[in-house]
Amino acid sequence: MANNDCVILEQKDAVGWITLNRPKALNALNIEVLTKLSTVLDEVAKDNDCRAVVITGSGNKAFSAGADIKYMSEATPLQVREFANLAIAVNHKIETLGKVVVAAINGYALGGGLELAESCMLRLAVKDTRLGHPEVRIGAVAGFGGTTRLPRLIGKGRAAELLLTGKLISSEEALNFGLVNRVVEADALISESTALVGEILSQPPIAVDFSWQALHRGLNITLEESAQLGADYFGLVATTEDFREGTSSFVQKKKPIYSGK
Ligand code: CAA
Repeated sequence: MANNDCVILEQKDAVGWITLNRPKALNALNIEVLTKLSTVLDEVAKDNDCRAVVITGSGNKAFSAGADIKYMSEATPLQVREFANLAIAVNHKIETLGKVVVAAINGYALGGGLELAESCMLRLAVKDTRLGHPEVRIGAVAGFGGTTRLPRLIGKGRAAELLLTGKLISSEEALNFGLVNRVVEADALISESTALVGEILSQPPIAVDFSWQALHRGLNITLEESAQLGADYFGLVATTEDFREGTSSFVQKKKPIYSGK
């Protein structure tokens, strides 16, 4: 894939590194970027050798400064809705990719850029950057899924504060809010992302996948249904060889060797 592509995919071992590559516009999301990202996600979804994806931004200034405001300023209301529908579909694809997906936030993560990161399983952010939902400050709404995912990640009160004031917060504040999982030095972002992904990939993959599905799907139904869903996945995971290996190894006080089956 050429380096002038607006989205770059590089495979390293079992990890697909996806880079939003529009640095002159701080990796702002336009139709071209979202469409390309969608294609790249389809590609990695089909690739059985790829077990995890890390999404980051090119340059050292921004992960993504959000939806393309220039486009929005000229678009008709119906075009704005179509634009949002495209982003919603991409974010849904990220959330249900069937792989471990981590956002490596290398700089500003704002508006639609933060909404993309909110769709990932986990988020690492570099020190000394800013995150937030400034949509309201330009008369807009976090319509790429932010009004839905943000309160699920950090609670309604904190989400209201960010969405209604549009204020930007530091990575450290985002860590306190639970919006990001780790704050790291800029030059350690790749190694820390690799380490976090490695930590998850060293676990039995079906148990990881079912845990995510129970967590993600379980947040969108009633408490009772959610608990039942967790119990169903628990029963289902008990059919795997890895469950037998993990539980019997514990009893026999030996290290489990997982087959991924
Ligand atoms: N869309 C389009 N272009 C953008 C952009 C965006 N979201 N953010 C930055 N850019 C462009 C700038 O226009 C500028 O381009 P030119 O050099 O051609 O003028 C370039 O990127 C560099 O940006 P700045 O000169 O502004 O850089 P800065 O360091 O002074 O400021 C910033 C950085 C604080 C991130 C500032 O760029 C900014 O506030 N950007 C907009 C952030 C924003 O409001 N995001 C939300 C967008 S709405 C949305 O996302 C909708 C949704 O959720 C559904």
